[in-house]
Amino acid sequence: MTNRTFAIIKPDAVKNNYVGNIYNHILEEGFTILSAKLIKMSKYQAEQFYLIHKDRPFYDELTSFMSSGRCMVLALEKDNAVENWRTVIGATNPDDANDGTIRKLYASSLGENAVHGSDSNENALKEISFFFSYSELI
Ligand code: CMP
Repeated sequence: MTNRTFAIIKPDAVKNNYVGNIYNHILEEGFTILSAKLIKMSKYQAEQFYLIHKDRPFYDELTSFMSSGRCMVLALEKDNAVENWRTVIGATNPDDANDGTIRKLYASSLGENAVHGSDSNENALKEISFFFSYSELI
């Protein structure tokens, strides 16, 4: 089993200067940051990344938002990383997220929800390799 997951600190959280706070959550929860970089996705890149949602009504809104500004992409490592990271970030909609979770603390809405986390080990590996080359995963 893999102990890696993929995370994004989304454009709203970068714009609102929450990168440092979110890094603290990552480190305090015992994750190792294998790799991280600040990028600005093109609309096409966001569309490819979220291709699984292409038939959903929010696809255009989502990919426009994700390509609207800089975001930080991260490859994280920890035992049971996928499930652990999803617990740390909280429910997709911040209104439903538990107190103390990243989305409860830093997200403003369902669409602009501060962070992303992979939903399975298989997707974690795919998402990491979408953004990082082998030599970046030291
Ligand atoms: P994320 O974990 O990045 O995966 C897909 C994203 O779609 C999700 O976070 C939400 O930010 C976004 N999204 C926007 N609108 C909706 C919606 N109506 N239902 C679910 N997800 C939505």
